[in-house]
Amino acid sequence: MNDVQTPRSTHTPALARWLGFALALFLATGCSSEARDVTVFFSNNCAACHGINLQGGTAPSLLTNVWTQGADDISIARAIREGNPTKGMPAWKEALTEAEIRAMVVLLREKIAKAQSETNIVAKPIDGEVVASVEHKFRFKTVAEKLDSPWSIAFLPDGRMLVTELPGRLRIIEQGKLLTNAVSGTPKVRAQGQGGLMAVAVHPGYQTNGWIYLGLSHGVKVDGKDVSMTAVVRGHIKDNQWTDEQTVFRAAQDSYLPKTFHYGCRLVFDDKGHLFFSIGERGMKEHAQELTRPNGKIHRVFDDGRIPSDNPFVGQSNAVPSIWSYGNRNPQGLVRHPQTGDLWETEHGPRGGDELNLIQRGRNYGWPVITFGMDYNGTPISALTAKPGMEQPVIHWTPSIAVCGMDFYFGDSFPRWQGNLFVTALAQQELRRIVLDGQRVTQQEVLFKNIGRVRDVCTGPDGLIYVALNGPNKIIRLEPVK
Ligand code: HEC
Repeated sequence: MNDVQTPRSTHTPALARWLGFALALFLATGCSSEARDVTVFFSNNCAACHGINLQGGTAPSLLTNVWTQGADDISIARAIREGNPTKGMPAWKEALTEAEIRAMVVLLREKIAKAQSETNIVAKPIDGEVVASVEHKFRFKTVAEKLDSPWSIAFLPDGRMLVTELPGRLRIIEQGKLLTNAVSGTPKVRAQGQGGLMAVAVHPGYQTNGWIYLGLSHGVKVDGKDVSMTAVVRGHIKDNQWTDEQTVFRAAQDSYLPKTFHYGCRLVFDDKGHLFFSIGERGMKEHAQELTRPNGKIHRVFDDGRIPSDNPFVGQSNAVPSIWSYGNRNPQGLVRHPQTGDLWETEHGPRGGDELNLIQRGRNYGWPVITFGMDYNGTPISALTAKPGMEQPVIHWTPSIAVCGMDFYFGDSFPRWQGNLFVTALAQQELRRIVLDGQRVTQQEVLFKNIGRVRDVCTGPDGLIYVALNGPNKIIRLEPVK
């Protein structure tokens, strides 16, 4: 399709130019204005030789981990595009667009992962059962049960644990006991879809100022319609009551949206008085590239909500001044490395392309212009996985694991996990341990799987690792076993 060129002439009337452009676009999208589901294309065109589950047939199995054309995404895309006609693999570049070839790679990765998951046995532990992982033996213990969609965990310096429940409650676990009553007077949330009371974080100066921060979906009615946006407040807890509430971030009302998903919503402090927080693109993917909008961004404000004058887009006309980075789809994890100060983020891709990113000032993380994923219905989103001026993820998970909250481990209970990054996954129901060499991922281990959607992870002051599970709706903790 690359030989199709848009006719160009300065003398061509506008309409003819437009028609030429439309024709080129029409041809370039595979002679079809309809986005095509590559799953269907695979069944109709590839399965006859490769088998519907890639197990092989007249063509070799694609599950053997042996790739004669190369194992990386680019090589697999090339193998599909160019084929190997003398060996019986047709070239597909006339039949598939570049974006569809990219989506086909995602589909192959999904099928391979599915086949592997049937042979790879990962621990599915029950309470108290010992798990022998690569570096440590551990078991988990249930800390609190009968919660309602626990979303985020934070600890107060006195050891009390704060847990948000998505429908809009803040709970306290004190000396291993879940207090019966939720904290009263917490802000009203729009608890629909993925929204509700999401993040909780404790100010680094809590000992003296007592501030606790909440991230939530704030709802309003505009012309009789419910719209919402991620917002941040802070307050104190006195006698199990939320008091002294102040607004830290609230977006302009005309940016509020009716969709009830992709709120992002993690909160992280640095050691210079800043608060970072994430807002997902709220289901409006093109908004992630627009600096006039708060959604699809990581933001930075002072702890009281003031805008730091050294934020990257301050003074740029119409740009939301709190924006720190953009092109972020749905950032569900945000954490600061306690030693290097690096800001790490996890982000849900669509179908494929979940990302681990290093967030840097003013950078564009590419959504939806570049992505390693495809749309949920099997149609492509973009042919591009990279573009100058846009950041690459440190790693991406394709197929998606639905990556969520994370934390660095620097506790005392698991000496050989020091400095590791613990990452949760909702869809794949995993807790992953990621080993880093500086800013590079060198190893990943799935510590357990399939005991619930894993929403958040947080090191306790006791050096144990606390995990929020959705489904079973409980908090568990990992304890070392000698
Ligand atoms: C007519 C049979 C046939 C069809 C149809 C076919 N393939 Fe193949 N395919 C082959 C054969 C044979 C090979 C091995 C070629 C070789 O040895 O280099 C192959 C190789 C490949 C490879 C490279 C594997 C490697 O080891 O590097 C990929 C990827 C692939 N096919 C994907 C597809 C996809 C996607 C489709 C559908 C769009 C498809 N194939 C349709 C026969 C087929």
